[in-house]
Amino acid sequence: MDIEIYYFSGTGNSLHIAEEIGKRIAGTKLIPIVSLLNRNIIETDAELVGFVFPIHLAMSPVPVREFLGKLDIKSAEYVFAVATRAGSQHRAFIDLENILKKKGKVLDSYFSLNMASNDPKFEDWQPATDEEIADLEAEVQNKLDSIQKVILNREKNREKDTNFTTPLPAFSILSMLLPFLNRFYDVEFYSNSKCAGCGTCEKVCLSGKVKMVNEKPVWQEDVQCFYCDACLNYCPEQAVQIGSNRFLKSYTEENGRYSHPYATADDIAGQK
Ligand SMILES: Cc1cc2nc3c(=O)[nH]c(=O)nc-3n(C[C@H](O)[C@H](O)[C@H](O)COP(=O)(O)O)c2cc1C
Repeated sequence: MDIEIYYFSGTGNSLHIAEEIGKRIAGTKLIPIVSLLNRNIIETDAELVGFVFPIHLAMSPVPVREFLGKLDIKSAEYVFAVATRAGSQHRAFIDLENILKKKGKVLDSYFSLNMASNDPKFEDWQPATDEEIADLEAEVQNKLDSIQKVILNREKNREKDTNFTTPLPAFSILSMLLPFLNRFYDVEFYSNSKCAGCGTCEKVCLSGKVKMVNEKPVWQEDVQCFYCDACLNYCPEQAVQIGSNRFLKSYTEENGRYSHPYATADDIAGQK
């Protein structure tokens, strides 16, 4: 059986899930989405095709939608998606279904997994403790066992969470407004005086927005940020910050940082 999983991950949660599914289903090929974005058409000849990615702003990340738009997926007999998230409702699967529909395909199954938050801009946010991560991981492992069975049996499984309705009801006002609202998400990053000029932010930046200039990071204005927060979370000095603006008060100067315990900066950079 030919199975390909295309993944995107800013801080390693989704990378971990892609790898775990890979371990459970022999012959799975893991392919980083970012490595393919410079192509006009992306071809797959796999029978089973999956997507693993984090939820960003209650949707799928921009690069995931861009990738899917370019994907020639004619060969796929079964298509699935797994979203990792910090626990809130989302409409990511509606986005994916809409893109797939234009290609004459359906999303046969989809699942959401609760993992630690990697978004430190909020007041009183703190990175998950080792104990919290272990509890989340235990739930994830259980759920991955059922996900494995669903995929191998090629079952239709449009998941309804126990705690959440997933995805957001397609025709709720909020759900319909989200793609529009997301266009206004425009946070700015900067580095403070703790910056040691090591270049980790440039290394992990998946969009190519961060460039080191005179040993300091510069976020290029003409490059679209993927908002994966890798630069923020992997900076060894916690020097990278999100600035406040008129819509958002950012607390990154006060808060800690998160990256998945098994995912190094090299693992994240390896997606490019
Ligand atoms: C900019 C941004 C927006 C996010 N929005 C959401 C959200 O709407 N709902 C949610 O549950 N988690 C949200 N998260 C949390 C991530 O989805 C979650 O931590 C995910 O597992 C990170 O995966 P990764 O390490 O593979 O990037 C957001 C994270 C970032 C950086």
